Amino acid sequence: MTVKMQNKPCLLLFLVLLLSCFIAQILGNKQSQALAQLYKSKLKEGAGIDTSQFEAILHANGAKIHPQEGLKEKDRIDSLPGQPHVNFSQYGGYVTVDKEAGRALFYYFAEAEKAKDSSPLLLWLNGGPGCSSLAYGAMLELGPFRIHSDGKTLYQNKFSWNYAANVLFLESPAGVGFSYSNKTSDYDANGDRRTAADNYVFLVNWLERFPEHKDREFYISGESYAGHYVPQLAHAILYHNKRANKTIINLKGIMIGNAVINYETDSRGMYDYLASHALISDQTANKINKYCDFSPNATKQPKECIDAADAAAKDTYYIDIYNIYASSCVSSNLTAKPKKASIFEFDPCSEYYAYAYFNRPYVQQALHANVTKLTHDWEPCSDVITNWADSASTVVPLLKEFLANDVRVWIFSGDIDGVVPVTSTKYSIEKLNLPVKTEWHAWFIGGEVGGYTQVYEGELTFATVRGAGHQVPSYQPARGLSLIKHFLDGTPLPNTTRHT
Ligand SMILES: *[C@@H]1O[C@H](CO)[C@@H](O)[C@H](O)[C@H]1NC(C)=O
Ligand SMILES: *[C@@H]1O[C@H](CO)[C@@H](O)[C@H](O)[C@H]1NC(C)=O
Ligand SMILES: *[C@@H]1O[C@H](CO)[C@@H](O)[C@H](O)[C@H]1NC(C)=O
Ligand SMILES: *[C@@H]1O[C@H](CO)[C@@H](O)[C@H](O)[C@H]1NC(C)=O
Ligand SMILES: *[C@@H]1O[C@H](CO)[C@@H](O)[C@H](O)[C@H]1NC(C)=O
Ligand SMILES: *[C@@H]1O[C@H](CO)[C@@H](O)[C@H](O)[C@H]1NC(C)=O
Ligand SMILES: *[C@@H]1O[C@H](CO)[C@@H](O)[C@H](O)[C@H]1NC(C)=O
Repeated sequence: MTVKMQNKPCLLLFLVLLLSCFIAQILGNKQSQALAQLYKSKLKEGAGIDTSQFEAILHANGAKIHPQEGLKEKDRIDSLPGQPHVNFSQYGGYVTVDKEAGRALFYYFAEAEKAKDSSPLLLWLNGGPGCSSLAYGAMLELGPFRIHSDGKTLYQNKFSWNYAANVLFLESPAGVGFSYSNKTSDYDANGDRRTAADNYVFLVNWLERFPEHKDREFYISGESYAGHYVPQLAHAILYHNKRANKTIINLKGIMIGNAVINYETDSRGMYDYLASHALISDQTANKINKYCDFSPNATKQPKECIDAADAAAKDTYYIDIYNIYASSCVSSNLTAKPKKASIFEFDPCSEYYAYAYFNRPYVQQALHANVTKLTHDWEPCSDVITNWADSASTVVPLLKEFLANDVRVWIFSGDIDGVVPVTSTKYSIEKLNLPVKTEWHAWFIGGEVGGYTQVYEGELTFATVRGAGHQVPSYQPARGLSLIKHFLDGTPLPNTTRHT
């Protein structure tokens, strides 16, 4: 099977200065080089994207609730091809978010391993924009299974987050993974606002289909560009609850990791990280600091800035910028027999296994996916979304809103990611101007330092995950599970080696 894949779970077009992100994609791939060219020209001309403050859309698409009776049982997955035996139920299917356009989002749902009736409901979103929560979240990061190198069989992830919650993975917006629209011009109309509106309509209809989850404690988590999706969906939920004067969705908290939060600090933090980790020269970093204007209104960058950004991109070309110490994928070929796999050693070729697995017609059938026979392949990151209409320059005001409304906020960061590194996140949190409540300290798991944490007044927790790249649970599964458990329980990360 030929593998056609170029986008990583990455920041798309408009974060134009994050050039290295794209150039560091699958090496030698012509398409990614073409993309890099595109970003370069965009950098020169300004992206022309609406970066104004995010606002929820009232009754998006009529916020219509369609009858869902009987659909839950239809969505039940007997078993995924090649999976080992498990004791929890799985579901997969489509929820229509716009009847007129024929737009439907695909979800995969793994019930909690234990105590599903008393466990919270957790929605996971990947970013991109354009990347699939089924590919990354479910199959490479925190889901109950990982895919073997044969692209056919699965093995269990004993650090799956469904040990802590009922976990819902959503492919969003339309054009990502199996999610689609019959009005294909929709693929070019995606943006932050449309994504939040569709995700909201998805959620109210999904809860109608799974009514036992309606009053349950609900949490949203995600990484990377989901630093936009998660707060924007949370904002839409609060907004609709307020308008209706009742709790339509019982949102309790959000948790975002290596998240795009504030364009200016995210960008500055990235180059500071690359320089402090000996990946780019101090001269390049100094030029970037001096000549690049990362403020949201900047339209055209001076040549000095572009040249320095190019130099940084060249310097990081040969490494995986999502985990600066990871090895590269040497061969994208599947193996006839599964390679020996360990949950503790992330296989850098995993995206290729996911591509092979999800493009198998019998896998799609088992998942109830691709029922309309789409004309494009399933991709870990979308090929059909090439335009992004709006991208707020910051989500800081939304985070403030949550803190004022008793919505728990945790921000975590894998500390060896070079795309949205820990420096970016620290600078972005500074923008919130919150007093410190619990001083910076190491947190522990299994007698070792899992990372560092600091809690702010208003109840915002910042936590790093030691030795994790951009996709934290891929690289540090045990630390990732500990993190989500403490977040959901609302308990501080342990400050001694004893109670871990
Ligand atoms: C499933 O449950 C049975 C009975 O409780 C138990 O013996 C078995 O180990 C469980 N299997 C898995 C894969 O957890
Ligand atoms: C899209 O079109 C196909 C073919 O007409 C139809 O079966 C399907 O239900 C439509 N999708 C939605 C979400 O309406
Ligand atoms: C909202 O609901 C509360 C309690 O049910 C009620 O006291 C209040 O008047 C309502 N507000 C509006 C604007 O309907
Ligand atoms: C950016 O432009 C908007 C609208 O044109 C303006 O309100 C805002 O103050 C500007 N921001 C900065 C940082 O210049
Ligand atoms: C991968 O597969 C291709 C086509 O079958 C083959 O030519 C190539 O040698 C293989 N590469 C490796 C590293 O096995
Ligand atoms: C859907 O199915 C068609 C026909 O089997 C296939 O060509 C296409 O790649 C599939 N697309 C997706 C997104 O699964
Ligand atoms: C550790 O945390 C607990 C509460 O979780 C607190 O009571 C204790 O003072 C902390 N210890 C240190 C050394 O900070």
